[in-house]
Order: sequence, then structure tokens, then C-alpha cells
Amino acid sequence: MTPGNSNDSNRRFKPLTVPRRTVMGPGPSSANPAVLRAMSLPVIGYLHPAYFDVLDEVETMLKEVFKTEQRAFAVAGAGSAGMEAGLQSILERGDKVIICSYGYFCERQVLMCERLGAEVVELRSEWGKAFDPQQLSDALRQHPDTKLVVSIHAETSAGTLHPIKEMSDIAHAAGALFMTDTVTSLAGCEVDFDGWDLDFAYSGSQKCLAAPPGISPVAISERALDHIRARETLPSSWYLDLSLIADYWGPEHKHHHTNPVNMVYGLREALALTLNEGLETRWLRHERVAAALRAGLDALGLESPVEESARLNQLTVVSLPKGVDDVKLRGQLFDMYGIEVGRGLGQFAGKVIRIGLMGESCVPANVFNLLNALERLLPEHGYETGKGVGTGAAAAKLASEPAPLY
Ligand SMILES: Cc1ncc(COP(=O)(O)O)c(C=O)c1O
Repeated sequence: MTPGNSNDSNRRFKPLTVPRRTVMGPGPSSANPAVLRAMSLPVIGYLHPAYFDVLDEVETMLKEVFKTEQRAFAVAGAGSAGMEAGLQSILERGDKVIICSYGYFCERQVLMCERLGAEVVELRSEWGKAFDPQQLSDALRQHPDTKLVVSIHAETSAGTLHPIKEMSDIAHAAGALFMTDTVTSLAGCEVDFDGWDLDFAYSGSQKCLAAPPGISPVAISERALDHIRARETLPSSWYLDLSLIADYWGPEHKHHHTNPVNMVYGLREALALTLNEGLETRWLRHERVAAALRAGLDALGLESPVEESARLNQLTVVSLPKGVDDVKLRGQLFDMYGIEVGRGLGQFAGKVIRIGLMGESCVPANVFNLLNALERLLPEHGYETGKGVGTGAAAAKLASEPAPLY
């Protein structure tokens, strides 16, 4: 008998089941079935030569997705593991770090830097607007001893996209290293690691790459790796030391911790699907499907607190009209329509809902389902919408574009 495979109906624990949901929140997004299939392949040893072939292929694919000729690999853990690996590995106690702060996840970066004893300069700027690079220039003039500038490309809490290349150029002109968060941007819009001269970028598997959460793809410059190897003190985290993780993924595959092999299979398949679709095509899909959603929301008279030029395609923030109950509306969407959208975080808590269109979840069908549900539910909250107005506007927007991409 196969252990754990008993058909005995008297067994204490039945096989796991979970409800089907349309995941349209800030992440995770739906995982592609091919990714889930790859994750069910047999476990092999993380020091087995056949597994090294998988690692090498994943590194090659990640380089293409990050657009880098330098190093790219994956940190075992959520996007926050990539974030913490970068901060822990680059900064030493007492180092000065500037954090460009325009959302909830920027505030998480501040908390991490404070824990590791860095001297933090937080450059706050308004949520819902693109960061003004001039603010960074001014701050670096005041703090010429800054070691690292930290930023977020796509701030999921605020629904904003930020001018990373300009920020990176300014940081380097002042002699600082530059790192950015691409958790929500990678594979959903352009990320150009070498072209933007980045030093470290981390992402997450669970957003536009359409894999389950649990692994954090990263890219790192030669300059940043040299900096980490030349530190006076070792990073306080052994597990998240990027130089050790780079050595495991590198040609010698030096032993580090047990690699999450099945997560890597899933990442490999997600990267294959992304590159087979084509990066540009995938970005365009995110652009067009988000444009259809926005057309529908506009037609329903729903507004966004995010300035138009800074809006993310992957995540749309919608202000709740007066009288619309945030918790009740999200509950109705979930219970009656099986649709999961996100709540507002931080400054936006209780005031907005956040609609994700990422990776596998970024398809017109999801846009129509959600708009249809909103048209039906909002009148119950005292906000009148014409039936078919939002879905009609979304359909018209899609019809105005060239042939479908999905
Ligand atoms: C921009 C951004 N950075 C970091 C994170 C943290 O990622 P994780 O929840 O995978 O740790 C998130 C999560 O949603 C995010 O949206």
C-alpha cells in the first residue's frame, strides 16, 4: 500500500479541497495550470546534476525577463524575502540609506532597514502620484554619504508606476547603489535591469509571472555583488546573504540551504510561458485589458485617486463613491460572484478597492465579470449605474484595438 494514499473512507482527514475563485486582487493572481503541473513533477535532490540544468535554464530565462547580462536567480521565499535579502546584503549597520516612500510597501522597506540598524532617510511623497526625481537629487545633495537608494517600480498599495531610470541615474551620479522592487511590474510592463543601470531588483512569482507565491526572482549587478563581497562585516542573515545564494546558483553550485525544487519547476514553467508569449506582447496584453477595465469604470462614473499618467495597468485603484460600504461590497463580490478584489491599505484603507489584472488573471473575461457584478451590486449601496453601461464601454474599448492578444 502506498503510504498516505489509503482509500479508506474512515480516514480522519479527507483530501484537501479549496473553493474556486476569480482572483483579481493585488496578488496572488491565478497560476497557469501548466505551472501547477510542473510543480507536481518528482522531487529530486537540489545538488543533483539534473537539477543544476534546471537552475541554469531558469537563470538564463530570468536574465531575459529582467533584461540583464549580469546575474539573475531566485531567493526562496515571498517577495519580502527578495526585499530583505537586498537590504540585508547591501547595507551594514550604520550605513545611510534613502528610501523613496510613496506607499505601504515602501514603508515596509523602512521597517526592514530600521531593524538592521541602518540610518534611514525616508523621502515621503504623495500616494497616487509619480515620485518626483528632483526630490531624490535634493536629498542626495544633503546626504552625500548615502550608500543605497531604495525604490519601488510599481507600488501595488497606491496603484502607481515610478520613474526608475531617472532615479537610478541620480543615485549613481551621487555614488550610491540603487535597488528597486519589481514585485508587481516584472512581466507586466517593461523592466530593463541593464538599460536602467540597476544594482538590485527583486520580484515575486505570484503576480504577472502567474506562478503560486513562494519564490522571489532577483537580478543583481556585478557592482552590487562586489560591494557585498567586500563588506567589512558579514550580513546578519546567513539565509538571505545574496553572495551565498549567487554561489549556489552559479557554475560551482556551492551548497547553501535546501532549494525549493518544486517551486523552481513552477517558476521555470512560468518563465517559459512568459517568454513564449513574448515580453512585449505580454506587456501589451496588460495595457489593453487594463484600458478596457478603466473604460468600464469611467462609464460607471467611478474615479481613481491615482493621477492618470502614473496609473498601473496591473493594479487599478478605484475610489468608493459616498455611501458604498467597502467591506460589504467586497464580501458581496466574493460570496455572490466568486470574485476576490483587494482592500485599500494604509492611507487608502476603507476608501478604495484595488483591482488586479496580472498574469493569468489579466483577461477580458475577468473585466466583464467584475463590471457586470459592480453594475448589479452598486445600486444596492445607493449608487445608481445603468445596466450594461460598464461592460458595454469595456467591450467598445477592446473592439477599438487590433486583433486580440489573449
Ligand atoms: C510592490 C510590492 N512589494 C512587495 C510585496 C511583498 O511581497 P510578498 O507578499 O510576496 O512578500 C508586495 C506584495 O503584494 C508588493 O505588492
